[in-house]
Amino acid sequence: MDKLAIIGGRPLFGEIAISGAKNSALKVMAATLLTDGVLTISNMPRLADVDMMLRLLMQHGADAKFEGSVLTLHAKDIVSTEAPYDLVRKMRASFNVLGPLLAREGKAKVSLPGGCAIGARPVDLHLKALTAMGAEIELDEGYVIAAAPNGLHGAKIDFPFVSVGATEHTMLAATLAKGETVIHNAAREPEIADLADCLTAMGAKIEGAGESTIHIQGVGALHGGEHSVLPDRIETGSYAMAPGVAGGELFLRHARLDLLGAAVGALEEAGIRLEQQEGGIRVRREGDRCRAVNVLTQPFPGFPTDLQAQFMALMATADGVSAIKETIFEGRFMHAPEFARMGANISVDGQTATVRGVKRLKGAQVMATDLRASMGLVLAGLGAEGQTIVNRVYHLDRGFERLEEKLIQCGALIERIKE
Ligand code: EPZ
Repeated sequence: MDKLAIIGGRPLFGEIAISGAKNSALKVMAATLLTDGVLTISNMPRLADVDMMLRLLMQHGADAKFEGSVLTLHAKDIVSTEAPYDLVRKMRASFNVLGPLLAREGKAKVSLPGGCAIGARPVDLHLKALTAMGAEIELDEGYVIAAAPNGLHGAKIDFPFVSVGATEHTMLAATLAKGETVIHNAAREPEIADLADCLTAMGAKIEGAGESTIHIQGVGALHGGEHSVLPDRIETGSYAMAPGVAGGELFLRHARLDLLGAAVGALEEAGIRLEQQEGGIRVRREGDRCRAVNVLTQPFPGFPTDLQAQFMALMATADGVSAIKETIFEGRFMHAPEFARMGANISVDGQTATVRGVKRLKGAQVMATDLRASMGLVLAGLGAEGQTIVNRVYHLDRGFERLEEKLIQCGALIERIKE
């Protein structure tokens, strides 16, 4: 398993191009199963998770061609409506092929995704929504076996709490359902509106994506279309924190402040200046050290759970005491003991981590526990004294495109050790 070796303590200066958003790209890719036309997706990030999704779509019958960051998908015929365990267990977003297969073919057998390092992550809301739309669903030996022999129909779906995946899944399936589907308490993450834009380009009728209530009027068929994936707000927020831990000034090309929600206020309060300029965001730290800030992770536009580990890295050397409360996933503090190995003073009590900022972290051997936690460790390493070795880099390869290259060109000393 590859490792990253980082020599910390060098301020970062330069430009980082922000890639297309992984969590939007994966759902937009699933949309190809809804049509026999050609879907052309630009600004695609080249990531391990995207490759995994491609493998799944290809085994369902899609042809795929990648040219630079443009992906052309063509699911002319669906050759299999089964998504096997091996392809779904490694990546939860794969589960979102269930709705499109069901809507187009009237049946699907998709493995349950299972839990993961950040929590149990059930899919009950996905299944309740599909059932309300007329799907007959059975669970058998770890698989969801779903049928809609007479097609799906529109329904009123009222989610008891916000779920990004369930909102997207319902929206995908509803595009081809008979009649109107209304989603109440829908997620408002920017990826929802991005998926809706793609589906609309394919002929779907969707109103309100990005708001709490979404109306989808089913159509008889979708056609091919073109879509450009929006910039990755989590990659943006992560690199925006880099000058906070290491000093310096970065220009984050393609980045958009409006996608960051409450993260903007939290970073500014911590002493990181973010300025939207033409073509991107300029970011620098005010003064020598960031200030402690309390944050609470919440659905968009709240502070994103996917930036929580990175923010903990920032707070580890901030001036003062910060309380970080995680409300989305129950097990998402596994990075705290890894930061402690670098000299951070963090105590975790249930869903709250209290971070007492120290002046400087010290490089150490640490282990990445999930994708975003890995980025938190990289940030900590960039600011630390001496060498940090981040083990299990495959997590990073799932979701941060060309990470070392982007950081090296801004002056970071970071190297991949292949093993
Ligand atoms: C998406 O996951 C993202 N993944 C996650 O990013 C992100 O952390 C999360 O949204 C929240 O923003 C992708 O888009 C591929 P949810 P998702 O459904 O859709 C519970 C990353 O690092 N829940 O909004 O799975 C669930 O367990 C990843 O890129 C149910 O109980 O998140 C969680 O506690 C990590 N039943 C909460 O809801 C359900 O049926 C919110 O999850 C569905 C969800």
